[in-house]
Amino acid sequence: MSRAFYVTTPIYYVNDVPHIGHAYTTLAADVLARYRRLKGYEVFFLTGTDEHGQKVEKAANAAGETPQELADRVMKRFQALWEKLDISYTDFIRTTQERHKKGVSKIFKDVMEKGDIYLGEYEDWYCTPCETFWTETQLIDYKCPDCNRPTEKLKEESYFFRMSKYQEQLLAHIEANPEFIQPKSRRNEIISFVKEGLRDLSVSRTTFSWGIPVPGNDKHIIYVWFDALANYITALGYPEESGNFDKFWPVDAHLIGKDILRFHAVYWPTFLMAAGLPLPKKVFAHGWWTIEGQKMSKSLQNVVEPNMLVEKYGVDAVRYFLLREVPFGLDGDFSHSALVHRINSDLANDLGNLLNRSTAMLNKYFGGIVQAPADLTDMDLAYQEKTREMVRQVDMHLEELAFSKALQAIWEVVSAGNKYIDETAPWTLAKDPAQKERLATVMYCLLESQRIVYQLISAFMPQTAVKALSYLGVTDAPNENGLQWGGLESGTQVTKAEALFPRIEEKSE
Ligand code: MSP
Repeated sequence: MSRAFYVTTPIYYVNDVPHIGHAYTTLAADVLARYRRLKGYEVFFLTGTDEHGQKVEKAANAAGETPQELADRVMKRFQALWEKLDISYTDFIRTTQERHKKGVSKIFKDVMEKGDIYLGEYEDWYCTPCETFWTETQLIDYKCPDCNRPTEKLKEESYFFRMSKYQEQLLAHIEANPEFIQPKSRRNEIISFVKEGLRDLSVSRTTFSWGIPVPGNDKHIIYVWFDALANYITALGYPEESGNFDKFWPVDAHLIGKDILRFHAVYWPTFLMAAGLPLPKKVFAHGWWTIEGQKMSKSLQNVVEPNMLVEKYGVDAVRYFLLREVPFGLDGDFSHSALVHRINSDLANDLGNLLNRSTAMLNKYFGGIVQAPADLTDMDLAYQEKTREMVRQVDMHLEELAFSKALQAIWEVVSAGNKYIDETAPWTLAKDPAQKERLATVMYCLLESQRIVYQLISAFMPQTAVKALSYLGVTDAPNENGLQWGGLESGTQVTKAEALFPRIEEKSE
């Protein structure tokens, strides 16, 4: 059985600085990567920056620097943010790197030699911010149907990719593989788009120079999306087909935002078909964040700066909030009050309190030493079963990229823990010496369930998990064996926990 797992984020344009939308996809990919590592998989987690194209060239001109200088400067901001957000990527690809340029030229050349890229002439409406050509009928009031900004009519000699040739093959693939494009509503959109007919795609430009030249004709620059999409294989060493490429391709999951689905679910698969390479197993398009009810935009100056959020609320609270608040495929709204509410109720009250109460009681009643449990009662067995069920549920939900549901499943067990304390009333048991064994068993169940909870939480909130597990006397990195009930050994020294998440005062609006 293959135990390799490959997950990617989009590569981010360097003409913009990192915001919450970028952080969101990258966090989601990080949770998958961490969870699969915990399960014993060999993981390749790729992110990076998209540094070519007219947009970057224009932004560099405006800033009075070369595109390379701009890219060098901005990509560091992405890397610094990923460090701050505890993103455990394996590789960071930049499209200006030699390894990438070499791979892109090779694919372009191969497809051209096969006859699926040919030289022609282009005349259509171009949206520079989206780097996309539109037909006149697709425009809305001569504006880009995606971003509503003005388009301009361009005529140029261009290389074309014979995308039309792959229409039926792509449709057949989408229909035979329900998992390929997700969520389902997005899959339906793509099916209708493909059924309307695929036109050949212009894959070169002559109007600017910041990019990879077409092999054999350096008047032409390879279209930025052809260039960018190939990052997913050039990072694995393609055109070398041994090593990482052989181990990790096809990718398990491309995580992207809904606005770039067509590039990933239509263009990319047809490029791969032409190059004779297997298609991604899954492309998942998540929704968009609005900010306090409004579209995020530079002009509104409401762009949420993730560094600031981390400084104000702590990295794990931000990681938790973004993945808990909104189901992954849907749009969601970011608000400070919703974040503060989640911190106070889910993290401080439910999660943190449970650890506090139970570690404090173990210290009070048994000097902090875990005792071997006696026979479990029905109530204990129900709590144990709930914990086991959580492990199965989280696995199933993460398979479907349902991060929010996975967290809900964990929090059901956290609530069950708080209820278990109320129902078993350890403080009453502690008053009766004849109940010592029962008290030991209750404490064992409580701590053991939480140990498993924190194994799973480690994928979402790595620092919190390390802290909590160290209070519980667990020093091993979270791992698959750690998900089994019974791992907590009698004799383990448990420390009374400090508050994991101090409450934040909620300002009344
Ligand atoms: N460079 C291309 C991707 C090439 S991948 C081969 C690109 N870059 S981007 O920097 O403009 O956008 C990257 C991602 O940020 C996209 O997935 C986009 O959906 C996401 N987001 C941008 N704004 C967003 C929100 N407001 N909310 C959520 N995600 C958003 O496109």
